Amino acid sequence: MSPQTGRHSFLVVANRLPCRRAADAWRASPGGLVATLAPVATRHSAGWIGWSGIADDDTDPGEHAGMTLIPVRLSAAEVTAHYEGFANSTIWPLYHDNVIAPRFSRSWWESHQQVNRRFAEAVAASAAPGARVWVHDYQLQLVPQMVRRLRPDVRIGFFCHIPFPPVGLFAQLPWRAEVLSGLLGADVIGFQRRADVENFTAACIRLLGIDPRAEGRIVEAYPVSVDSAHITALARDAERQDEPERIRADLGDPQTVLLGIDRLDHTKGILERLLAVEELFDTGALDPVTTRLVQIAVPSREAIPAYRDLRAEVERTVGRINGKFAGLGGASIHYLHRDYPFESVVAWYLAADVLLATSLRDGMNLVAKEYVAARRGRGGVLVLSEFAGAADELTEALIVNPHDRDALGAAITRAVRMESGGAHTRIEAMAATVADRSLCAWATRFLDDLESVSPAALTVPPE
Ligand code: F6P
Repeated sequence: MSPQTGRHSFLVVANRLPCRRAADAWRASPGGLVATLAPVATRHSAGWIGWSGIADDDTDPGEHAGMTLIPVRLSAAEVTAHYEGFANSTIWPLYHDNVIAPRFSRSWWESHQQVNRRFAEAVAASAAPGARVWVHDYQLQLVPQMVRRLRPDVRIGFFCHIPFPPVGLFAQLPWRAEVLSGLLGADVIGFQRRADVENFTAACIRLLGIDPRAEGRIVEAYPVSVDSAHITALARDAERQDEPERIRADLGDPQTVLLGIDRLDHTKGILERLLAVEELFDTGALDPVTTRLVQIAVPSREAIPAYRDLRAEVERTVGRINGKFAGLGGASIHYLHRDYPFESVVAWYLAADVLLATSLRDGMNLVAKEYVAARRGRGGVLVLSEFAGAADELTEALIVNPHDRDALGAAITRAVRMESGGAHTRIEAMAATVADRSLCAWATRFLDDLESVSPAALTVPPE
């Protein structure tokens, strides 16, 4: 029987669609994945298979920004078990060094398999013969193998935007063999850093007895990037409209603006950052009157109790610090629990003397790359966690262990006191790195590798 085929020669497959309809406008979905992939998908007139972000949503496929959006429906029970449960309360913490304890549930696993199967069926129905199918991230690790069975004619790439954990941690997963086999259905398997490639390879060898590079499969690091030219253009626009000056004036014209921009997530180290700044105010190393910390915390995964608890703790901490140090001139910490359009984010970058990208664990941390791209020619200091993928490339940042409060405090103090010549040299070097390794080059490299493999050569591991 010949398999059912569709019309798309290039498909992006991700948990979320790139945007959702809100009232009468389209709004971009949250997170780095969408920011990274939307321009690539538009350039290739891709079909994009994903969830709309709303339970029981029956939206039909439609065209948007040069792509075809192909929704996959998730029931309310699947949102709880697959998305909030298995993806974000099992895999997410496990892959981020157990930043909080992962929870293992058989019913979540059942639901996760069902949802991955629905995505695979949508791929099988939408892909043209011989199509390139690019599957993304930890929510869809079973999809490559399922697609391989349904459509052996297509080339399948998988890219993991988050870290892949050391085998000692990964081995805790009761369904570790199934997840590895799911991934091995892909012809090209990409990770952010070399360390992730090594962890994945070690897991395949130790737990399955399979070398993942066997049979011509490509397993590589493809560090994801940002659209540097686009950010430069937005920075120019923001300056033309005096937005950075306006932001600083609204903050009371402080001497120093520190900035953190993160999804409100345990991995981002927001609490650790706040506590380090509090200690600097306590000891007088930083002046709470002339220093402002702006913490933008983008709402995320709010139905999950652990995320709600984190929000409450962050907000208590901000309240306590401001209670101690705020004067009539305003609060030392400006906490903004909301999402901003990217144009406004760029204006915040320009208003900030120092960016604190101090995640406890991060696949890449695109905020760090965006900041240095926006600051080209303008100076500014990046304090960057050694546990963010970006630390492999942005070596001129002040690289720090965010778990070490003394070290974090020292790095922030050093950033604030850095003389402008030194700051300029560092930012220019990092901005050049980001401009050289563009988003476009990242996608081209992955897709060229995908083009180079022959799909028929792979044996499908047992499901
Ligand atoms: O890669 C991290 C990630 O989970 C992406 O898949 C997504 O873009 C982002 O974080 C936002 O998460 P969510 O889709 O759960 O809101």
